[in-house]
Amino acid sequence: MDHGEEKSLCPESNQLIARTRWKLLAKVLHKTSAENGQSSSQLAPTTSRQLYGLFEWDVLESNIFWQDSCGQWLQCCSFNYPHFSLNVRFLINQFSIDELTGFNNTGNVCVWPSEEVLAYYCMKNNYVFKQKTVLELGGGMTCLASFAVAKTSDAMLVACTDGNPASVENVKRIIEHNNLSSTCPITAQVLDWKNESSFKDMESMWDVILCADCLFFDDGREALVDTMQRITTRNGLILIMAPRRGRTLDAFLELCHGKFDIYLNEEFDSDVTRAHQKKLLSPDYNSDHNYPLLVQLKKR
Ligand SMILES: C[S@@+](CC[C@H](N)C(=O)[O-])C[C@H]1O[C@@H](n2cnc3c(N)ncnc32)[C@H](O)[C@@H]1O
Repeated sequence: MDHGEEKSLCPESNQLIARTRWKLLAKVLHKTSAENGQSSSQLAPTTSRQLYGLFEWDVLESNIFWQDSCGQWLQCCSFNYPHFSLNVRFLINQFSIDELTGFNNTGNVCVWPSEEVLAYYCMKNNYVFKQKTVLELGGGMTCLASFAVAKTSDAMLVACTDGNPASVENVKRIIEHNNLSSTCPITAQVLDWKNESSFKDMESMWDVILCADCLFFDDGREALVDTMQRITTRNGLILIMAPRRGRTLDAFLELCHGKFDIYLNEEFDSDVTRAHQKKLLSPDYNSDHNYPLLVQLKKR
């Protein structure tokens, strides 16, 4: 997510941060509408301009489900992985300022670059998931990485989760409308890492956790680390994609010390590096706020 104007993360700047976040999300919606030549009320907030082009997105106009009152369907394919294809529903929303500044709808704005890169990384490294139970935290309205795992690996079970019920309902529709019978079982449910009751039945249950662009919530970071630690199996693996974004990634890693073995990787995939280098030529591109780093946590 492009937090281009965010200058400081110190506690005194809360008002500035709230204003900046609102501006950021308003900017994203505005940019996306301009690209589509549509007003934001008509618009399916599909993909961020900052995506790395690892997937192609086509409107499914021939499909009767292509648009309804609050959703639009796009077909997601990958040039490098022709066997991957998924019909994805995007929520068409009008966000109030309260919803935007509260951040609970960040997963209903678009697919963010970290999710795109995580999905691609999962397809390319699908051996990681063989016979594993896999859960995504904060997957937003598409949980694209979860679908990449379910469709291209021999995982045993994939669970898509988010704290926002609207995101989860959308993911359930994506599951229903895609023919996933030949893939591993995939489910969707609300999991709020600040609400223990939403994951009380999941202690030490998941071999691999996926998480994209969820480290910037100052008031949720500790709960996120605790959730990861509790629901992961012994020796379990957590795969995170997130941009550095000021001090936010470091703040997350500090909370992980002593709980996990930590591996931080800035160059983890040649296709992603190439796309990133191309973007660096654009004056609009802010790598600190967009370029995802790969964090691998191994539970001790
Ligand atoms: C920036 S979005 C990322 C969504 C998706 N992973 C992507 O990159 O496109 C952050 C996500 O975290 C979710 N989230 C925020 N707080 C949460 C919480 N306490 N529990 C679970 N999910 C939460 C939001 O609903 C949102 O979907």
